[in-house]
Amino acid sequence: MLTPQSGGSISLTRSFAPLRMTIRYTPAAMPVPLLDLKPQYAAIRDEILRVTEEVYASQHFILGKKVEDFERDFAAYCQAKHAIGVSSGTDALLIALMVLDVKSGDEVIVPAYSFFATAGVVARLGATPVFVDIDLADYNIATAQIKKRITKRTKAIMPVHLYGQMVAMDQMDFGLPIVEDAAQAVGAEFDGRRAGSFGAIGCFSFFPSKNLGAFGDAGAVTTNDDSLAEKLIDFRVHGMRPKYFHHYVGGNFRIDALQAAILHVKFRYLEKWTEGRRRNAKIYDELFAGDDRIILPRELPRHRHVFNQYVIRFKDGRDRVMAHLKKIGIGCEVYYPLTLPQQECFAYLKPGRFPNSETAASQSLAIPVYPELTREQMGEVVREIRRGLE
Ligand SMILES: Cc1ncc(COP(=O)(O)O)c(C=O)c1O
Repeated sequence: MLTPQSGGSISLTRSFAPLRMTIRYTPAAMPVPLLDLKPQYAAIRDEILRVTEEVYASQHFILGKKVEDFERDFAAYCQAKHAIGVSSGTDALLIALMVLDVKSGDEVIVPAYSFFATAGVVARLGATPVFVDIDLADYNIATAQIKKRITKRTKAIMPVHLYGQMVAMDQMDFGLPIVEDAAQAVGAEFDGRRAGSFGAIGCFSFFPSKNLGAFGDAGAVTTNDDSLAEKLIDFRVHGMRPKYFHHYVGGNFRIDALQAAILHVKFRYLEKWTEGRRRNAKIYDELFAGDDRIILPRELPRHRHVFNQYVIRFKDGRDRVMAHLKKIGIGCEVYYPLTLPQQECFAYLKPGRFPNSETAASQSLAIPVYPELTREQMGEVVREIRRGLE
């Protein structure tokens, strides 16, 4: 998913042997990567080096104070009582379902359009992912369609706050545990309440391309329930309490102390970076205004969108635009080219068709929105998208 492109290094000519044909491309006036983390690092390098050196000097790499300090502040930020650092966003989802005792024969309702992990973790536990189509207004699970997919076997519902805008959580009361996949939505709000504070468990990813990104893989779970928090803490270390006494079969789902220390530094800038993303989304809204060939992402009423991705949609011509942008050095990506039910590994479910999800897969395109982008760069992106449509 992380596809930073090298700024400025695009080849002007490409030879196709054996035809010996040379095609000349006109590069963008200014190549724009989909994501460039280097300016962010440059701005906080000294602080990062200081805390990583502290970890090296202490030689304390597993759990401990750095992890606890980060967890305390992260829980408060998410308006949750507890946060537990884990090894990745995928493991956050997995451990959440494990503590809810999801197992073979159970069903978990998931959106038909998300990153693979959302459904993958359900299948890994031997349970069945039950897909629900999305709404094209926000690319999130169509809450009105959930009820008819609930059966006696439904163990949990896993809404995904895709691209950084939350599911309308007031529509999610089905008397079943909710696991929020908030991997892309740290800091997102619905009715003034943060992602990860609504469900039984909230799951976050700190994959480097997320709004709060680690220097590698990391994640967290949040909960307001004390007994679930205790269970999550135990499941993170093989279901153990006290040492070498195992009440459950958990796993090694620990976050590294090094990652927690780095995240704690970056965390202090999260709101500033999020506001940068929101500002950039507004600038795109202005720059694209009046062009009915392009459907822009909308921040719905009662929401705070954190724009982990700025995803536009083309009724026609998405692939043409994407090819043009890639050719000239402007980063873009399709999140995601296939729906979850279309994935080969889920063919055994015979899941049927999910028209809105299929529309999103064939028409959407993520373009650069990271906080350090300049207005000029965004102007270039918009100009080249229009050129690609010609
Ligand atoms: C919606 C969603 N769920 C789950 C994950 C999994 O997170 P990770 O890559 O940290 O395992 C991601 C991350 O890409 C995601 O975007």
